[in-house]
Amino acid sequence: MIRFTHVTKRYPKGGPAIDDVSFHVNRGEFVFLTGPSGAGKSTILKMVYVEERPSAGEVKVAGFSSAAMGAGTVSKLRRRLGVVFQDFRLLEDRTAEQNVAFALEVIGTPESAVAPKVARVLTQVGLAGKSTAFPHELSGGEQQRVAIARALVNDPLVLLADEPTGNLDERATRGVFQLLREINATGTAVMMATHDLSLVKAHRYRTLEMHRGKLVFDSGAEFPASADEFDTAVPGPAPEPALQGRLPLADAERPADAPDAAPADGAAEAP
Ligand SMILES: Nc1ncnc2c1ncn2[C@@H]1O[C@H](COP(=O)(O)OP(=O)(O)O)[C@@H](O)[C@H]1O
Ligand SMILES: [Mg+2]
Repeated sequence: MIRFTHVTKRYPKGGPAIDDVSFHVNRGEFVFLTGPSGAGKSTILKMVYVEERPSAGEVKVAGFSSAAMGAGTVSKLRRRLGVVFQDFRLLEDRTAEQNVAFALEVIGTPESAVAPKVARVLTQVGLAGKSTAFPHELSGGEQQRVAIARALVNDPLVLLADEPTGNLDERATRGVFQLLREINATGTAVMMATHDLSLVKAHRYRTLEMHRGKLVFDSGAEFPASADEFDTAVPGPAPEPALQGRLPLADAERPADAPDAAPADGAAEAP
């Protein structure tokens, strides 16, 4: 559903921010994008939602190619994507529900459809009781939940999250991350940039690691790409149930340092 093919990105100054990067993300996957500050994580996400274009190579998202994308196509694609940022980016003079409704209003959603959709996503993120609160009346974790609700309200194919827990304390980080996992479990792909290695280590999700613009590690796609993943311009139906919950829960929940079920070398335990 997202495919980078030999993508290089040069900003006007300095060396390449992204240097010959290729990978793909399938429908319904959860992907961590890791690496130190300056590695190129945000630039990768910006090329997915077409805030930046590659200098060389191709970025293909839900059938749309960076090689042939006019302004009309860009806004069509963006409607299929949800984006959240470290600094929430809420409108300060609007309530939680008005912030979410705004995302629907700008794309011309009929007025009668707005309120039920807003109520549904605010409930999904656990904020039904705070719908009339302004951002300054909410904690950081709650503000990020509003931003996530806003990103979800158009039923995106992919939720892109750029350091979504970067401004949150440990408890709020856990809550927001758990919410992203729940969203993924409903079939929405999630691509999350983070340099929080404790999160990455604690969960066995697909991991792409960047360093100085290069993709230095890819734990591997969870299932092979089908042509349909990239070539259908009109996004198809929700993923098959078989593509959801790809990790056995026991594995997903197990801390990274927990012993495996069976010794790898098959040695019998001492009596
Ligand atoms: N708008 C820009 N103009 C020039 N250089 C940029 C711009 N945005 C990012 N860069 C550079 O590109 C590299 C990758 O940045 P970024 O994608 O923001 O990394 P990360 O998100 O991993 O911290 C860095 O060297 C950064 O300085
Ligand atoms: Mg960044």
